[in-house]
Amino acid sequence: MSRARNCCSQCEGIEQMFDDEHVDEDLRSYRAEGPDETTGWLLDELIARGIDGLTLLDIGGGVGAIQHELLTHGAASAVHVDASSAYVEAAKREAKRRKLADKIEWHFGNFVELSSDLSPADIVTLDKVICCYDDMPSLVRKSARLARRFYGIIVPRDTWWLRVAFRVMDFFQGLFKNPYRAFVHPQDKIEGIINRAGLKRVFERRNWLWQVVLYSR
Ligand SMILES: C[S@@+](CC[C@H](N)C(=O)[O-])C[C@H]1O[C@@H](n2cnc3c(N)ncnc32)[C@H](O)[C@@H]1O
Repeated sequence: MSRARNCCSQCEGIEQMFDDEHVDEDLRSYRAEGPDETTGWLLDELIARGIDGLTLLDIGGGVGAIQHELLTHGAASAVHVDASSAYVEAAKREAKRRKLADKIEWHFGNFVELSSDLSPADIVTLDKVICCYDDMPSLVRKSARLARRFYGIIVPRDTWWLRVAFRVMDFFQGLFKNPYRAFVHPQDKIEGIINRAGLKRVFERRNWLWQVVLYSR
């Protein structure tokens, strides 16, 4: 697939990080075990609140776990925007296998650059995506604005020890000349941007690493 539209250095890192090998392994695991635990928490909460006929914008959807599960449970359609070409191709393959392809539209590229071409959706999700992007304020502001009803995020917990661990990972990425970096963005800053977009926190659950938060308008 061609280079992501309006690619930045972090997007080049994303292409290197989430390559065919990484993505094939993710797809194998999704097929064998279903969505991972934290994605399951977000899905359960959304489904419990009622998703019948709703539209989804899944940013950085990876192999497409959220879109496939919500469409299977009654959502009307989905748009998947992803800066990894390998993930877009894997999500398409999986959607065809599940006979969901006619309900999904895929866009390869940086959401921050593509957002002005995208329509609002009832549900917007960013599952382990905000931590993969340097310009968190633009990513969160532009995506929250597009959420008509629900906005779901999964982010690393904002703790000092995770910040240290991410710095160490970044150091090794640098050694291997990969421009990809991972970020523990401050939770209060993320929350402030989401609140200013008119969304309020309605659900939260965490494990030792991830924090799952659902907001509603
Ligand atoms: C760690 S993976 C998570 C994939 C999937 N959501 C999951 O939980 O398995 C991060 C994903 O975010 C995407 N991503 C990060 N920043 C992005 C941006 N600015 N625009 C579009 N996709 C982005 C990457 O391409 C990748 O698919």
